[in-house]
Amino acid sequence: MKIAVAGTGYVGLVTGTCLAEMGQTVVCFDVQEEKIAALQQGRSPIYEPDLEQLIEKNMEAGRLSFTAEEKEAYGEADIVFLAVGTPEKEDGSADLTYIEAAVSSIAQNMTKDIVLVTKSTVPVGTNERMRVMIERWKPRFLRASVISNPEFLREGSAIHDWFYGDRIVIGASEADREAAELLIRLYEPLGIPIVRTDLASAEMIKYASNAFLATKISFINEIANICEKVGATIDDVAYGIGLDKRIGSHFLRAGIGYGGSCFPKDTKALVQIAGNVQHQFELLEAVIQVNNHQQALLVEKAKQYMSLRGKNVALLGLAFKPNTDDVREAASIVIANRLLAEGAHVVAYDPIATNNAKRHLPSSVRYARSVTEAIRDADAAFIVTEWDVIKQTPLSVFREKMRIPIIFDGRNCYSLEEAKQANVTYVSIGRAAVVGEGCEVKKGKY
Ligand SMILES: NC(=O)c1ccc[n+]([C@@H]2O[C@H](COP(=O)([O-])OP(=O)(O)OC[C@H]3O[C@@H](n4cnc5c(N)ncnc54)[C@H](O)[C@@H]3O)[C@@H](O)[C@H]2O)c1
Repeated sequence: MKIAVAGTGYVGLVTGTCLAEMGQTVVCFDVQEEKIAALQQGRSPIYEPDLEQLIEKNMEAGRLSFTAEEKEAYGEADIVFLAVGTPEKEDGSADLTYIEAAVSSIAQNMTKDIVLVTKSTVPVGTNERMRVMIERWKPRFLRASVISNPEFLREGSAIHDWFYGDRIVIGASEADREAAELLIRLYEPLGIPIVRTDLASAEMIKYASNAFLATKISFINEIANICEKVGATIDDVAYGIGLDKRIGSHFLRAGIGYGGSCFPKDTKALVQIAGNVQHQFELLEAVIQVNNHQQALLVEKAKQYMSLRGKNVALLGLAFKPNTDDVREAASIVIANRLLAEGAHVVAYDPIATNNAKRHLPSSVRYARSVTEAIRDADAAFIVTEWDVIKQTPLSVFREKMRIPIIFDGRNCYSLEEAKQANVTYVSIGRAAVVGEGCEVKKGKY
């Protein structure tokens, strides 16, 4: 069986590489020729732990190849995994231009019956429309089945998630029952529970999962904001509620909100999907609003402590979360722009995502090569991404290197006890502020 993958981004590259690791013969195609050129030399255009080693291993074994030629990718394929982007349009709905272009190309280049497997996140009803599209465009004597197989990987642990995911969702219409069974056999060696459903339900499972997780994050952030006002501590509160098995402890970490390429766009798309059938998804609208507010909150808090005008501010972490180079919809972008608007000088540090961030941040942002370089002589530090290298920097180093050791931690990386011991001023989320002795920073005085 020959497998092709359309799109070599976070999802496509992981899918292709992991399928090859499972023993399949896989060719990955992308419209970006420079990505393919890098991959042909065994270099991954994205950062994902263990990915480059697996690419190299499977290329050497002759199971994994890359091409920028559509004919070479789709001409021999039995199964095509679709992993192209579905970014957000201005009105919040999903842009399906790349999906349509890929389906058209597959239809024009296929030479045998194929199973088209949609990994991209697409609005409910899209796979059904894709069935109609490919039916219209493909050679009449060939058959094309369409399966919805939404992806649940988390950037930063994508390889692990492929092999140890919680579930695999396979949606298909009755007419494509055999294709669904073929896919089930492909995934069976993983031993992951498989949810077999119709196309619309599979599509909905993906959006509903992301919407629920986003809701959990906005919920705990709201609780954290209330905790600050009533004198409770979010760590204890989150632990206390998370022990309830009906709730669970995951996604109950208060912080500066969710970002990345999925939650922001998928929540907005689901509001649109609901709106299209005259359902106002008020709960999810509130979740989005809370998140927008939360991303900007740290700068607002800082302003209660100090004027940011002319201050040197270290921005620690640019990726939307640790272990990825992805900065799409990262809180760092919102925070950097707000700091600059307040007149601060921003020095940013990220162990991996700096190059990507440079494309999204104003040119006035300067970049450091280490935490210590970023915080040297700084008037304030903002912790935005909880990379190990950031959260493992002892607070005593902040105390030593900064001009005035005041830290606004959007990820609650340190305990209040550590902050007191290091004698720094430490403002985090959902917890009382610690004001270091002799820091000359008192609320509203600096
Ligand atoms: N990134 C994630 O964590 C994640 C998780 C689950 C689902 N998803 C979904 O998977 C899809 C892909 O996401 P991603 O993060 O991998 O995107 P990405 O932007 O990293 O990669 C998309 C790739 O598709 C390529 N492409 C565009 N048009 C193409 C075409 N016609 N043929 C072949 N390649 C084409 C682009 O050049 C790019 O390399 C999206 O729908 C996303 O919502 C992403």
